[in-house]
Amino acid sequence: MYITKPNKEFPSDFLWGSASAAYQVEGAWDEDGKGRSVWDEFVRIPGKTFKATTGDKAVDHYHRMEEDVRLMKEMGLKTYRFSIAWTRIFPDGNGEVNEEGVAFYNRLIDELINNDITPMITVYHWDLPQALENEYGGWESRHIVDDFVHYAKTLFERFGDRVKHWIVLNEQNVFTAHGWLMATHPPGKVNDRKTFYQVNHHAFMAHAKSVIALKSLWSDAMVGSSFAFGPSYAKSDKPEDAMAKMDYDDLQSYYWMDVYGYGRYPRAALAQLRSEGVAPVFEEGDEEILKEAAQLVDFMGVNYYQTCVAEYNPIDGVGMTNTMNTTGKKGTSTVQGVPGLYKNPQNEHLPTTDWDWTIDPEGLRFACRDITSRYDLPIVISENGLGAFDKLEEGKVHDPYRIDYLKRHLIELKKAIDEGCRVLAYCTWSFTDLLSWLNGYQKRYGFVYVDREEDENEGTLNRIPKDSYYWYKYTIETNGAEL
Ligand code: NOJ
Repeated sequence: MYITKPNKEFPSDFLWGSASAAYQVEGAWDEDGKGRSVWDEFVRIPGKTFKATTGDKAVDHYHRMEEDVRLMKEMGLKTYRFSIAWTRIFPDGNGEVNEEGVAFYNRLIDELINNDITPMITVYHWDLPQALENEYGGWESRHIVDDFVHYAKTLFERFGDRVKHWIVLNEQNVFTAHGWLMATHPPGKVNDRKTFYQVNHHAFMAHAKSVIALKSLWSDAMVGSSFAFGPSYAKSDKPEDAMAKMDYDDLQSYYWMDVYGYGRYPRAALAQLRSEGVAPVFEEGDEEILKEAAQLVDFMGVNYYQTCVAEYNPIDGVGMTNTMNTTGKKGTSTVQGVPGLYKNPQNEHLPTTDWDWTIDPEGLRFACRDITSRYDLPIVISENGLGAFDKLEEGKVHDPYRIDYLKRHLIELKKAIDEGCRVLAYCTWSFTDLLSWLNGYQKRYGFVYVDREEDENEGTLNRIPKDSYYWYKYTIETNGAEL
């Protein structure tokens, strides 16, 4: 379907953006009263990250914030998405507000606004206060919901006069899967499916109650959560592969997006979880709260990186599934699918990145169309980008591969807009280079190169705009008309 003759430009109020997350850029891990997060602890466990890299210093955005915003301004960026470190606001997760933490974000917000850049805040980008983990097991306990909502409300009260765009949770599906199934994020548990679904229920309640709280304080605010959406293609035209795709979508995508968009879990997914004895336990009133919040969300946040293939997975077959590289090097490791339902083989028709992520610009159009048909919600592309090994050569970074990647995704995004999808914003991942959680500083995503070695304390941390920085600047100036 591609019916209308498209306008060349993007909508006039389109928010051309870029994104980051506190732990990945700020550094200053123990300054100005900040408490410790689960990531501050996790990276210290031997073998968890590439060359034992940490975010202690990260790219030192905490001390170079003005310089970074100046670079955003020179580029003409319309929106900057960043997250708040919970432990700067509440060092122990709850209790007294740490005013120095609030002051840092006030300065950042004001600096952005004074430079005509719309701030977009992520409330939670994975850095849970360690104190809450110690006190009651963090996300595993229902207590987290109250502490989370108290934290979120504090942000809405302190910053909501100036900040109108809010993303409550970043990639709930990713931090819970890595944390409770794959052991690659804190708290490092393996295949604990029962807890995984319960943790997700707590996160959904935290999201829902925060949405309701925000709207009662600021009815003009725009809110949603960001989902890591990897649309699937059926491996073949065999009915069993079509069913595998349906099972995959229900269990891996709609399980989250239906709660954000409709306030309920997909029935088939719940039936499956009940049959395995791993369905989440609800408290009285939860269903109503989830429904109320779904009526209030303004957009579906989408972090788009890749699509996948769904193939029927026989019960006694080999459980080969998708590639998940956490080693810091190119290579493949496998994650189990669900025997009897689906597995995710590589797409043979598409190329991959240096980290084996499938490159599929059309998948972004597909994602937007799917969300629009299913939920009829506006969309914020809260992340999209290419992780690569960039090289600094004679003071310059030539990254034509990144320009090509982003350009092709934007062309597909524009098609989706022309087909009726309401896309409010597009944030690349990321503005500056930053810490890549498990892969240290070698996997780079930014428009701005940060001079530092893979190891923790080397490099000047100088900022050097890459070729892609100037390309995006021009794309913004021309409002995408010359893609
Ligand atoms: C999504 C996450 O939100 C972000 O923190 C991460 O660095 C990127 N994906 C790239 O892996």
